[in-house]
Amino acid sequence: MKSTIVISLAACWLATTALAAPELAIIPQPQNIERAEGVFKLTPDLVIATDKVSKDTGKFLAERLRPATGYKIKTTSRKNPDQTLPGSVIILTTENASTNLGAEGYELSVTPGAVTIYAPTQAGLFYGAQTLLQLLPPEIFSAKVVKDFNWEIPGVKISDAPRFAWRGMLLDVSRHFFTKQEVEKTLDTMALYKLNTLHWHLVDDHGWRIEIKKYPKLTSVGAWRPGVGFGFPSNSTTAYRKDGLYGGYYTQKDIREVVAYAQKLHISIVPEIEMPGHSLAALKAYPQFGSGPGPFEIPLKAGVNRGIYSPGKPETFEFLQNVLTEVFGLFPGKYIHIGGDEVPRGTWTNDVASQALMKREGLKTQNELQSWFTRRMEKFINSRGKTLIGWSEIRQGGLAPNAALMDWIGGGRDAASTGHDVVMASTKYTYFNEYQSRDKKSEPLSSGAFVPLRNAYAFEPVPASLAPEFHGRILGAQGNLWTEFIPNQKIAEYMTYPRQLALAEVVWSPKETRDYEGFLRRLKVN
Ligand code: ACM
Repeated sequence: MKSTIVISLAACWLATTALAAPELAIIPQPQNIERAEGVFKLTPDLVIATDKVSKDTGKFLAERLRPATGYKIKTTSRKNPDQTLPGSVIILTTENASTNLGAEGYELSVTPGAVTIYAPTQAGLFYGAQTLLQLLPPEIFSAKVVKDFNWEIPGVKISDAPRFAWRGMLLDVSRHFFTKQEVEKTLDTMALYKLNTLHWHLVDDHGWRIEIKKYPKLTSVGAWRPGVGFGFPSNSTTAYRKDGLYGGYYTQKDIREVVAYAQKLHISIVPEIEMPGHSLAALKAYPQFGSGPGPFEIPLKAGVNRGIYSPGKPETFEFLQNVLTEVFGLFPGKYIHIGGDEVPRGTWTNDVASQALMKREGLKTQNELQSWFTRRMEKFINSRGKTLIGWSEIRQGGLAPNAALMDWIGGGRDAASTGHDVVMASTKYTYFNEYQSRDKKSEPLSSGAFVPLRNAYAFEPVPASLAPEFHGRILGAQGNLWTEFIPNQKIAEYMTYPRQLALAEVVWSPKETRDYEGFLRRLKVN
């Protein structure tokens, strides 16, 4: 693990493990842990043995163990589940794994003789390997060899599976552009804490970040703005082009590489292409798809969001469908996020084409017009085998029939009780761009609200008033990192951790085992 954040968290673990040996510093807390006698020691002759299908996961673990130990760890395929191997062995296998563990669960047993991880799937084995890394002393995350170190893993038997299937993080790369390497670093840490969904907020008013071959101006024009803006000094970031414009974008090759990198970490990426609002960067490049005459300038401030697409123009749909067709070719996952939040729908009152459309379709309100727009996009999205997800506001004129809802300001309970899937991303608990401390003066500038670690940990994704038969509709939750006030990776990490670890426990661990004091001990002192 290259992340310095992880290394410093790991250093905290070390300090406490020495003092309070009995508590294991695993985050998120596994479902069941039983301590066992003795310890397993990693030795230079260590072998990772897998069944045939688990070879890559074995190699992943070997790669993670190699830098700090310096051992030339070999991976080998076992001929059958009973084959014994000499020396120090870690076994990863899908053979004889209980299918009750589900799509992501695992069992991990550590005895003085061997470490064995069983799981019915590679995702499960991968999470077992992540737990194993956390059972080792935190020096295991060092990028350099730690000499003459005693690599001991305490005896333990763990069985574990996640509470929710959607365990996510949103990364806004529109307000601040993060490089491909920075995005990959974000993914590394997500995987360590068993998060499995990156919601990649690729476009917004402030920048369009994904190459679309059919519309090159989206990036040649829409990816660049005159400065970092938002009141930041220009040296707060490095994302400048030679001519001094601020921004950046991912080529389709970059996107494919990030998607492949994420797949190896069992993370699926949900791209977000905002519509019909938050679209100024696209409209600066292609004003003909906007409501009203423009100009649609890329703003340098937060909260400026007046330019929106015109649903009244057939060419708007042609444009958006062509964009999504390229997006679908890059992201193999099930979901496409179409945004839909904070649309300044009043703008449509002055849009002749949209007014004509409303008359033709018998739409009485601007809310209904947005709903009509979303339903039309949904038909296209479903016809390509994908599922539409959008923010709370897409419900307001009536939710599209197959849509999933991402609840940031409500609507999740009602959507779930009418049979829609829901992901929770509540502003009060999961907005990691908000202040962590009341002492704002000593914190980096933020948008003003207060979301301390305690709130992040206290989050309950299933609304209290949701009838039990609909609980399964709550797919999970995610933390959001909006970047109006985040001009670089260092501040992004400062805002993300440790709140992301609290979220990881919210979405993975059983509700009954949640314990804030215990979490803090595992976080800081263990
Ligand atoms: C949002 O925070 N506007 C979804």
